[in-house]
Amino acid sequence: MTQLSSDALDFRGKVVLITGAGTAIGRAVAVAFARQGALLSIGDVNEAAAAETLDLVRRNGHEALFTRTDVSQESDVQAFVARTISRLGRLDCAFNNAGIAPEDENRKPLAMLDAALFDRLLSVDLRGVFLCMKYELQHMARAGRGTIVNSTGVAGLVAEAGLAGHVAAKHGVIGLTKVAALEYAAHGIRVNALTPGEEMAGPVLFLCSEAASYVTGQVHIADGAATVQRMFAIDLLSKARAGASQAAGVG
Ligand SMILES: NC(=O)c1ccc[n+]([C@@H]2O[C@H](COP(=O)([O-])OP(=O)(O)OC[C@H]3O[C@@H](n4cnc5c(N)ncnc54)[C@H](O)[C@@H]3O)[C@@H](O)[C@H]2O)c1
Repeated sequence: MTQLSSDALDFRGKVVLITGAGTAIGRAVAVAFARQGALLSIGDVNEAAAAETLDLVRRNGHEALFTRTDVSQESDVQAFVARTISRLGRLDCAFNNAGIAPEDENRKPLAMLDAALFDRLLSVDLRGVFLCMKYELQHMARAGRGTIVNSTGVAGLVAEAGLAGHVAAKHGVIGLTKVAALEYAAHGIRVNALTPGEEMAGPVLFLCSEAASYVTGQVHIADGAATVQRMFAIDLLSKARAGASQAAGVG
């Protein structure tokens, strides 16, 4: 059994790569890792937002490397990971967090969904995670160690009407996470998925730390209990059947 050290969340000397670190969750996680001593490599399409994150990290007395990266582009991701290793010397942890938030005006039933929008969502939220893992794992497997956390969402666990692309991508992230965990456990690499709500820094640092050394291939849910409640008093098919019977004058 591994002995848990009292400084399990000490990331001094560790290199952590984060995608989508320009805003919200990615930014908060970047600052939290920096405070725990990690060397950061952040990638984002939004250079202005990423610059604000860098500024925040530096104001906390730490340094970070930024590489403009579109996670849906293989050459960008390959260059981002290669630059991280050439400039910072190693790669210990990766938080594959970049994603496209669902927009209300794009909510449509599947039969009405624009195929180009579907492709765009999958290219960032799913292909992006695949590409990041592809290049991170190549390096981590050579090094014989590493931890990866992929952002999924409640949409990776349950469906939401009107969001087929988002739901498909987030379910896909969980599948990719499980495959990667299976394939790379023997290389000393752990891969988990995280279902975010608001406060993600603690769960991400935990999953990347030695405190989670026996946790891999799992979906860690930190959603403030959003998914534990029963959503419907009656299932949807029963409702539809009751409606049809009523319309037909039966029952
Ligand atoms: N906020 C939540 O409550 C919540 C809930 C469920 C899932 N998530 C997931 O967590 C992750 C982060 O969520 P957030 O709320 O911080 O999102 P956000 O929209 O605030 O930030 C996403 C970041 O990803 C970047 N990004 C977008 N497309 C990119 C691309 N092609 N390449 C590189 N970077 C790109 C954006 O510039 C931004 O900095 C996402 O994957 C999201 O789907 C968040």
